[in-house]
Amino acid sequence: MAEVDRTQYEADKQRLREAAEAYYNGTDLLLDDATFDALSRQLAAIEAAHPQWAAGDSATDQVAAGAAVAGDVAHTVPMLSLGNVFDPDELGDWLAGVAKRAGTEDLVFTVEPKFDGLALSARYEEGRLTRLVTRGDGYHGEDVSYAAPNIVGLPPRLTEPVAIEVRGEVMLTTAQFEAANEARMTHGDRPFINARNGAAGALRGAADRKYPIAMSFFCYDVITPETTSPEGAGAGRYVTALQRAHDLGITIGVETISGIDTYAAAEVPAAVTAIEERRGSLPFAIDGAVIKVDDYAARAKIGSSSKAPNWAIAYKYAAEEGMSKLIDIIWQVGRTGVITPRAVIEPVMVSGTTITYATLHNPDDITRKGFRMGDTVIVKRAGEVIPRLEAPVVNLRDGSETEIEFPEVCPRCGSPIDKSEARWRCSRGRQCGLAEAVTYAVSREAWDIEGLGKKQVENLVASGRVGGVDDVFTLTETDLIEFGKVAPANAPKITAEIERARTSPLARTITALGIRGTGRAMSRRIAKHFRTMDAFRAAGIPELEAVDGIGTEKSAMIVLELAELAPVIDHLSELGVSMADELDPAVAEVAAEVAPDSVDTAAGSAGAAGAGEPGAEEAGADADGAAGAAAQPLAGMKVVVTGSMVGPLADLSRNEMNELIESLGGRATGSVSKNTDLLVAGEKGGSKRAKAEQLGVRIVSEDEFAALIGRVG
Ligand code: IVH
Repeated sequence: MAEVDRTQYEADKQRLREAAEAYYNGTDLLLDDATFDALSRQLAAIEAAHPQWAAGDSATDQVAAGAAVAGDVAHTVPMLSLGNVFDPDELGDWLAGVAKRAGTEDLVFTVEPKFDGLALSARYEEGRLTRLVTRGDGYHGEDVSYAAPNIVGLPPRLTEPVAIEVRGEVMLTTAQFEAANEARMTHGDRPFINARNGAAGALRGAADRKYPIAMSFFCYDVITPETTSPEGAGAGRYVTALQRAHDLGITIGVETISGIDTYAAAEVPAAVTAIEERRGSLPFAIDGAVIKVDDYAARAKIGSSSKAPNWAIAYKYAAEEGMSKLIDIIWQVGRTGVITPRAVIEPVMVSGTTITYATLHNPDDITRKGFRMGDTVIVKRAGEVIPRLEAPVVNLRDGSETEIEFPEVCPRCGSPIDKSEARWRCSRGRQCGLAEAVTYAVSREAWDIEGLGKKQVENLVASGRVGGVDDVFTLTETDLIEFGKVAPANAPKITAEIERARTSPLARTITALGIRGTGRAMSRRIAKHFRTMDAFRAAGIPELEAVDGIGTEKSAMIVLELAELAPVIDHLSELGVSMADELDPAVAEVAAEVAPDSVDTAAGSAGAAGAGEPGAEEAGADADGAAGAAAQPLAGMKVVVTGSMVGPLADLSRNEMNELIESLGGRATGSVSKNTDLLVAGEKGGSKRAKAEQLGVRIVSEDEFAALIGRVG
């Protein structure tokens, strides 16, 4: 270990204590979990190397670093803390150590979630709840019986008139946390920073709060004469005691995850991972798993230290929260005109990723949580991909923080903002981002209309000629030249591209609509699932949820979006834009022979591109799936067809050829350019053939093309 000096040690000890005090007693946070754990381990190492420094006043040898309020109720049995391990190796070492102490390899373990709340002891006499006591310093706690009516999971009366003490974690579930903050703000109180910190505030403030805050209790320890005194006549099993508490009407921690199961040592790591995998979808916060020896006699043999039992350990998962500083807010206007604040923060590592941006749900979030520029902030990156700004750490302010400025008008177009809902929107709605929306619709991601770029689209929108993505299909050569400022020589190519786009696979048209929450990969899945625009439009929330990657929130949003887009979709349909994905039987037959996997996905490679869907709202956020590559002989190729087909492909019309190309992973385009990879030249392929020759583009006959795609005549 590096040389450490005593002054630094004392300062760090003080810092750890203050943080622990805030953690256990108050509504504020001084250190995030990961930093707290790291500091605590560092101090433990220093104390091991310099025991004389810590004599009588160790920071790491006491519950809550010696900071917790002791209270005046003596605990029947000390309420100990838990040791921590942080990776599979450390867990393996712990399991081996326990087996050694117990003198047997045949131990049986329980694996439970580690709830992120506060330890609480509940005493029942004759089946009635008589007393609630906090952990305090582990030997004496505070009486918080007044909170009993607000705690779900601890019934006032048990199913039998027995005397029993149960211990467990009191915490706020995600729903309770949200309800609590709703109530706090209604009553002018500052919202809780996070659920754990809320549990402390909810419990301790329950005595003099005018409104109730519901909490939950999850039992993980049962104290009866049979189960107690680890050093004494412990007999029986932990799982039996848990079952008993459950039968008496108390909520047991493990039942939130699995049954009351046990595991052999070799099975423990998998059980720990299984809980971690469910972490993001649980209705409450957990920060690890707790592994315990099941048998009380074995526990007695293994023993405890003054701080924690040796027969139990907490396996801590990677922290989902970090602390950073708010340095800027960028007001983004989406394709649909929604204005969202995006926080720029100092880089911070959270669950293994460096984060520099975080979302704030809406402008109201800033006011409600009271953020100021320059604040120390808690950043959370839970199951979701996009990190969120959770709360400011008010007691770390130094006075240099400033008010956050809100935009008065739409930051993109300067129009008034519609603030009637929590989610602000430019009063021009989709019109505000129209040029952007149309540019996206004609991009390679969607209709792929070559020649129509950002500039031309901006001209068309500014002139009023294009008022929605649907208007693209009404453009004539004259319009393109006059309103889009397109070079006259290019206009016919663009109209040809527009013609081709009319037969786009459904997925491309869905992408082009720019439905919030759906990027290209999601649009493909939707098209594959519903096959027709009508079926998609008719879908309600449950039908939408059947699509991989669409949850309740997203499906509700899609329903609203589709309602708003109804006139656009109707117009597209009137303009002859393809609204179904049923391949023409002739095409399907060819495609099936060539690439059996791609038949049902006219849009080309489907699936595989689902990862990172929350980000898919942005254009191009999702990539082409690679899964279908083997069956996609034209993957990534721009193919132009010219002349009428003879030979093996003679049955196919131009549109059908284009569809076939798309179904094999290629992009069918209307005109030859230097970007073209292949020209399929049928009979009389005059000017396109000449252009291709001039540009050195590969030219194949129908026969060669048929061979290339695996359909030899
Ligand atoms: S057992 C003697 N089981 O973690 C063993 N504790 O860091 C006592 N905790 O004080 C604790 N979930 O507040 C146990 N399933 C669980 C737990 C759990 C959360 C908390 C508890 C404890 C702290 C130790």
